[in-house]
Amino acid sequence: MKDVTESDIREACLPATSPGQGYRGTIPNAQPELSVSEILEEIQRIADLPLSQSTTLPAQAYTSGEFFNWEVENIFKNDWYAVAHISQLPEAGDFINLDLLGEPMIAVKDKDGQYRILSRVCPHRAMDIMPPGFGHDGHSPAEVREGESGCGKTRFFLCPYHFWTFELDGQLKACAEMGEAEDFIRDDWKLREFRSEVWNGFLFLNLDGKAPQTVAEKYASLNESIAPWKTGEMKLISSNEWDCAFNWKVLGENFMESYHHAGAHSKTLQPMMPARDTWTEEEKPSHIRCHLPMKEALREEIKALEEKGKRWDIFPPIEGLNEDERFEWGLGLGFPLFTFVTTPDSFIWYRIEPLGPDRLKLLTTILVPDSTLEHPEYESMKEKGNQAAIDFHLEDMEVCMAVQRGLYTSGYQRGRLSHLEMPIWLIQRFLAARARGTWPTLDRAPAPAQGNH
Ligand code: FES
Ligand SMILES: [Fe+2]
Repeated sequence: MKDVTESDIREACLPATSPGQGYRGTIPNAQPELSVSEILEEIQRIADLPLSQSTTLPAQAYTSGEFFNWEVENIFKNDWYAVAHISQLPEAGDFINLDLLGEPMIAVKDKDGQYRILSRVCPHRAMDIMPPGFGHDGHSPAEVREGESGCGKTRFFLCPYHFWTFELDGQLKACAEMGEAEDFIRDDWKLREFRSEVWNGFLFLNLDGKAPQTVAEKYASLNESIAPWKTGEMKLISSNEWDCAFNWKVLGENFMESYHHAGAHSKTLQPMMPARDTWTEEEKPSHIRCHLPMKEALREEIKALEEKGKRWDIFPPIEGLNEDERFEWGLGLGFPLFTFVTTPDSFIWYRIEPLGPDRLKLLTTILVPDSTLEHPEYESMKEKGNQAAIDFHLEDMEVCMAVQRGLYTSGYQRGRLSHLEMPIWLIQRFLAARARGTWPTLDRAPAPAQGNH
């Protein structure tokens, strides 16, 4: 069989060939339509089954536009959403454009060193103050960072339409010819600011401003689990953007279950971290955490290399990890979208941007400690680490695309889950709790950890 290349995968995800369009032509979805409340009822029913009786979601949970809209309002906008890492904004004036959940925004570090998330919609007449490509013509005060779209450094923001200018904290700084506008007070006008918070180095956004807890409160149970990686002091060193022709839950489920090591990653991850040995921690109100221990033979191999002063991992090991953490990968999902892998030498963060029932944009990133950047072989390690991340991600892209296509067909069956797919069942239980409006805590007895843990 011919190897599938990165460009094959990227092309297959273009809108023209995505499941909703080119692939099916104009042939309608073979699955019957379900209303949002029918989908929610079914999710609640199956989420109350024990893991040993669990089954997959109805196809419509991944294909219905109305259900996706329900998720936007009831899962994404009213909760915390990690949008950037502070190492992407090291100095005052550094900014990143964010286009998430239909809102054009800008994440910026202001003159007082505070991180803010501002709307890019001008309070004058709704122009995007930093439209795509703006800054490249030398008109903007912003310097756009080489090779990256929508991020850079600026002293202030300039709306390209009528040249109103704004401070880095969003306050209107200057606007010409407004003297005859009655009762117009410049100080009353600013770019709208969204609620945001920094937790463990990640900048979180709460779009509707009403999340009942702070990020620290919400993820209190996750804090201890990722503390050894000291993500607040890490640097984001690589990011790859992916257009994905599948639902965010197709990605989330794939990301969190390791049963597919035996299939999709049979040549890459399975020989190191066999599916059979993976396990999931006790159910928590706001997160899922899974462990992928390395094979005993691999541990021995790594230890033997270390004794000779050599290294098996790509980057130098994270200091302060315990014996288990040194020899495993750990998967994490902070509900709803904070998705990451802890490894012995890095922290991998996936920023998922849901765009529709069968579409999302994904940023796959790698974070490492500061000390790694000082290593003499840092540049070559970075290249190697980046390529390795792309390689195993391509294996996941391929299956996720094919799964989404299957969800529209009359051949789709409600499959049964392996115990190794416990995270899929936990995601269902999270969705069910939201359907009931129970938030933010669990309203069922927490499911116990797997194995002897
Ligand atoms: S719309 Fe921004 S200055 Fe007019
Ligand atoms: Fe995978």
